[in-house]
Amino acid sequence: MASTTLRPPATSPVTREHRGSVLVVTVDNAPVNALSADVRRGLADAIEAAQADSAVAAVLLVGAGRTFIAGADIREFGKPPELPSLPDVCNRIEASAKPVVATIHGTALGGGLEIALAAHYRIAVPSAKLGLPEVSLGLIPGAGGTQRTPRLVGVAAALDLMLSGRPVDASQALALGLIDRLGQSEDALGEGLAYALALLAEGALPRRTRDARAALADRDAQRAALDAARKDVTTKQRGLFSPGKIVDAVEASLEQPFDKGLRLERELFLQCIDSPQRAGLIHAFFAEREVLKAPETRAAKPRAIASAGIVGGGTMGAGIAVAMLDAGLQVTMVERDEASLERGRANVAKVYDALVAKGRMSADARAQVLSRFGGSTDYAAFAQTDLVVEAVFEDMAVKKAVFAELDRVCKRGAVLATNTSYLDIDEIAASVSRPGDVLGLHFFSPANIMKLLEIVVPAQVSADVVATGFELAKKCAKVPVRAGVCDGFIGNRILAVYRQAADHMMEDGASPYQIDRALREFGFPMGPFQVSDLAGGDIGWATRKRRAATRDPRVRYVQIADRLCERGWFGQKTGRGYYLYPAGARTGSEDPQVLAIVDAERRRAGITPRSFDDEEIVRRYMAAMINEGANVVHQRIALRPLDVDVVFLSGYGFPRHRGGPMKYADMVGLPEVLADIRKFAKEDPLFWQPSPLLVELVGRGADFDSLNKS
Ligand code: 3HC
Ligand code: NAI
Repeated sequence: MASTTLRPPATSPVTREHRGSVLVVTVDNAPVNALSADVRRGLADAIEAAQADSAVAAVLLVGAGRTFIAGADIREFGKPPELPSLPDVCNRIEASAKPVVATIHGTALGGGLEIALAAHYRIAVPSAKLGLPEVSLGLIPGAGGTQRTPRLVGVAAALDLMLSGRPVDASQALALGLIDRLGQSEDALGEGLAYALALLAEGALPRRTRDARAALADRDAQRAALDAARKDVTTKQRGLFSPGKIVDAVEASLEQPFDKGLRLERELFLQCIDSPQRAGLIHAFFAEREVLKAPETRAAKPRAIASAGIVGGGTMGAGIAVAMLDAGLQVTMVERDEASLERGRANVAKVYDALVAKGRMSADARAQVLSRFGGSTDYAAFAQTDLVVEAVFEDMAVKKAVFAELDRVCKRGAVLATNTSYLDIDEIAASVSRPGDVLGLHFFSPANIMKLLEIVVPAQVSADVVATGFELAKKCAKVPVRAGVCDGFIGNRILAVYRQAADHMMEDGASPYQIDRALREFGFPMGPFQVSDLAGGDIGWATRKRRAATRDPRVRYVQIADRLCERGWFGQKTGRGYYLYPAGARTGSEDPQVLAIVDAERRRAGITPRSFDDEEIVRRYMAAMINEGANVVHQRIALRPLDVDVVFLSGYGFPRHRGGPMKYADMVGLPEVLADIRKFAKEDPLFWQPSPLLVELVGRGADFDSLNKS
């Protein structure tokens, strides 16, 4: 077959090549072939050139490298738009007088799939994934996706794709009618060419998705799917802006002519682009990728990790063991005696048993995973282990004794990690002969489920050990955030402060139930008092008692939690805490006795209760969180504000559409946050000390985001 390459505008990321009568149009815009302005121009030019070129009978669209097209260029959102627009490019593709075929490998997401839907025929290789993930960025498909998808697959399947944002694989796409053919091999170009030639041989003509009718024929079924989705959106995706707009746009595909539907889609898409939720969600998307770029991951290569050791088989040790097993590692657990080891093993097995019972794992797969899991009461079992995580009691003496053992038995070059929540990791590191190998790996409970992993970096650790922590996170599908050593690192340190703000409000007059409700309304899945009940009040109580002797007497100390703990009301595990959990219920009900205790404590403290509205509750809670977040950045415990955001998004249920506490602060406006803090400081200047970083940023008119870019 004759082949000539034309590379119009010298630097265009879209190339054209004649393969016989087929013009192969390749998008080459690494890493994911996003549809930036010059890609859009290149595609539009290629389609135009194909019309004018008598040697071309059909056009084949293909992606270079690892993927087809992953969507619009997210970095362009919020900037002045450049022509041609993506909807326009899609319309030009669809209007082509010569058949256009899209051949898909890797991912066809968002605008990438919309390009394919505007083409006349679609083929995908077996491993390809296709989806419309715009909703996860606070958007709706904005280049015809809301109008073309229902015309191909019907309203129910289209809404499912758009509202879940989940991609489907190529065979599902074929079954849905999203593509016309499944390739036999992974060679997208070869498969696409063969398909294009077969279509030409059949005399196939352009077949425009806008004209497709069959999938919408049963109007009653479409209407029912639409109504069901509208109802679902108001409950399951409550508070989110774009899901309702998706339903509106899809409704137009059913009720309106195509061009009118497109116009409405554009209007709704632009509303979403302008929404703060879009800004928050896109910030979250990039922040989760930026956290991977810590100085040590740039400077050093990770050490090889094939095997892991865990000391302690309690809540955390067992969860960490599961996370490591799921990552494919060989895992050895060491406990202090046989009985504890048995308990540890059982804790691990229990996780897989539950999966088997729910039909989410086969018994064989369970056996396979557990064949990589061993246990011992002898540290010598760690002699050849690449990385060990200690998860024993939160007690410096116990931790040091464990590290002395690890120092004795572990091979040179093994990474020695602690899962401590609060203890000084510099002190632990200084107690062994190889402090360069010691770091903190702070998992969150349940460790096999929670995404966040704080990589805590003590002073003497070597860069490749830190890089190994990040590599381990990747293997375990965790979101790693680099943190410095301090009391509570990033997350728990900030939590301690805003949790106090919540306690102050409770003592001053807000009920714990009102506070929880206000914060759920803000977007948290649970309020702080529900979280206490879930985690168990006893842990915090033990810490408070330990610290009682050294507590600054000037600091306001709310005793309500202590009164509950003294009664043995630790939360869900004891059937009551702030809430009542009759007969093991997971959702609590309000408890008048708790309110009576709160009242009594107010009287004891000499406080006349006042009323709070929900807005004030959120303002105080957020101001406390933001102010301590600023301190954590100021002291370089977090590298950038975005690291704080990712900690809260992936470890503390912070509503993703608000972008994280620091992004939220930027959106509210730092002067406003600082003014709140100064106002609150009039009542309690010790608690409400404005962070020097916040003061500085307000002073020079800058925001937190300006520090993300440095
Ligand atoms: N625009 C700009 N940059 C993008 C991008 C996009 N759509 N998608 C990914 N990138 C960047 C990432 O930020 C990252 O940059 P970095 O290396 O500088 O940090 C790089 O590409 C590689 O991305 P990942 O690290 O995420 O690579 P993976 O291989 O793990 O994942 C992916 C690839 C599945 C494509 C994933 O990047 C992804 O999900 N991207 C977003 C897809 C998406 O949401 N598309 C819809 C966009 S909205 C749209 O199309 C609107 C339209 O309807 C009008
Ligand atoms: P846990 O009490 O459930 O488990 C501790 C385990 O360590 C017990 O099984 C005990 O037998 C074992 N152990 C004690 N001394 C040992 C020794 N010398 N050698 C071997 N095993 C020994 O405690 P949990 O909750 O799992 O906490 C462990 C660590 O993880 C603590 O440092 C804690 O601060 C930290 N952490 C806890 C979180 C939580 O939510 N529970 C979250 C993040 C960190």
